[in-house]
Amino acid sequence: MKRHSASAALFGEACEVIPGGVTSAARKVTPPIVFRDGEGAYLTDADGNRYLDYHAAFGPVLLGHNHPEVNRRVAKALRRAPLSGAGVSELEIEVARRIHRLVPCAEKVQLCGSGSEAVFNAVRIARAFTGRPKIIKFDGCYHGTYDSVLANSSRASPMASQARTDGSKDQLCRLQPGSAGILPEALTHTLVCAYNSLDEVQEALDANRDQVAAIIVEPVAHNMGCVLPRPGFLEGLRALAASHGALLMFDEVITGFRHHLGGYQTLCGVRPDLATFGKAIANGFPLAAIAGRAGIMDHFSTREGGDTYFAGTYHGHPAALAAALATMDILENQPVHERIFALGDRLRRGLAEIHARLATGATVAGFGSVFITYFMPGPIENYTDALRNDAGRFLHYRRRMIERGVFLMPTNLKRGHIGFGHTEEDIDLTLQIAEDVLKEM
Ligand SMILES: Cc1ncc(COP(=O)(O)O)c(C=O)c1O
Repeated sequence: MKRHSASAALFGEACEVIPGGVTSAARKVTPPIVFRDGEGAYLTDADGNRYLDYHAAFGPVLLGHNHPEVNRRVAKALRRAPLSGAGVSELEIEVARRIHRLVPCAEKVQLCGSGSEAVFNAVRIARAFTGRPKIIKFDGCYHGTYDSVLANSSRASPMASQARTDGSKDQLCRLQPGSAGILPEALTHTLVCAYNSLDEVQEALDANRDQVAAIIVEPVAHNMGCVLPRPGFLEGLRALAASHGALLMFDEVITGFRHHLGGYQTLCGVRPDLATFGKAIANGFPLAAIAGRAGIMDHFSTREGGDTYFAGTYHGHPAALAAALATMDILENQPVHERIFALGDRLRRGLAEIHARLATGATVAGFGSVFITYFMPGPIENYTDALRNDAGRFLHYRRRMIERGVFLMPTNLKRGHIGFGHTEEDIDLTLQIAEDVLKEM
């Protein structure tokens, strides 16, 4: 058994001054672990235990922890680039230009600090541009903490999720606010459809003619593990949005840069009107972006005459911008995606073979560098399917993996992430440990 006494003591201290001892509700882990160092694919905790990390801080750590080139560029920026809070900086121009060059929908770009902020501002500008109040989101997709989108998502609403397992259609589309304190009015304009159901989207658009400002979707639904869009789903959303005068918005906070430098929109060939980015764009430094058609983006009040207020003291922080440029340089010049996709295939193939041999009835899913084992038979095409996951076995498996030195976030339906710091040896070690753990289970 690993010792966790130093972590437990620190967590006790945290609980004295921080409600629940963590600064993000999604970070609760049992037993509590306080991580102290990170290097490449590995994390070390306060007790000196070392873990092969597949959590990657929910996805941003794409190149590995403590990446020397990212650190070097950040240190250089801190010496030379001030946060002046006036005008524009050269780093901001460089980052916006780079996103413009790489991302198909990015005629223009705005920068902010977190995925939630990016989505908040993208929804606001979609409403301002169309003059319409409603948005359509998908059951099980998460788009951050902003009131209008904090409904029917796995992270936001675990209690609501548990109540919604019968799969009946009425249940499926009932709005489930993700937090106390959200005014009911804030969600009256939020419509929820089942992921992968064009019929439900068509129904929602028909029933709310000239009311829907935007359809917002995770192009790969990673907040329920890894649910891929059915062939034709994203193309269908594109066509439905266009025919109803609504905007199509891809939330690429997870998929952007992790799956492709040009976002998932490059891989699927569907161009949204707006897209949001965050996480892997800066390898763990706090940067997010909104990209989209110039005619929409020009509504931001950063432009003379723009009607949609956009501001933030920390927008374009030099440390985050330098990290993003270093990350994008490495993604462009080194075979990062080739390697992490190959490692992802190796891990998924190995896990699927072990589960088949042990007849566990589990389903190994994923895309590129992302993977998850659902303890249930497939197919898994929407949130109702994903909620049939045997959460007890899922968590038990992950806690045993952590005990054996492989860190997978012990939260139901959370995905794992492979990074450029992982090696084939790491993958093979993981497979060996997974097989041992599953046999013990
Ligand atoms: C798809 C998606 N959008 C938005 C967000 C919110 O990003 P942040 O946590 O940086 O506010 C997340 C966070 O997990 C996400 O997964």
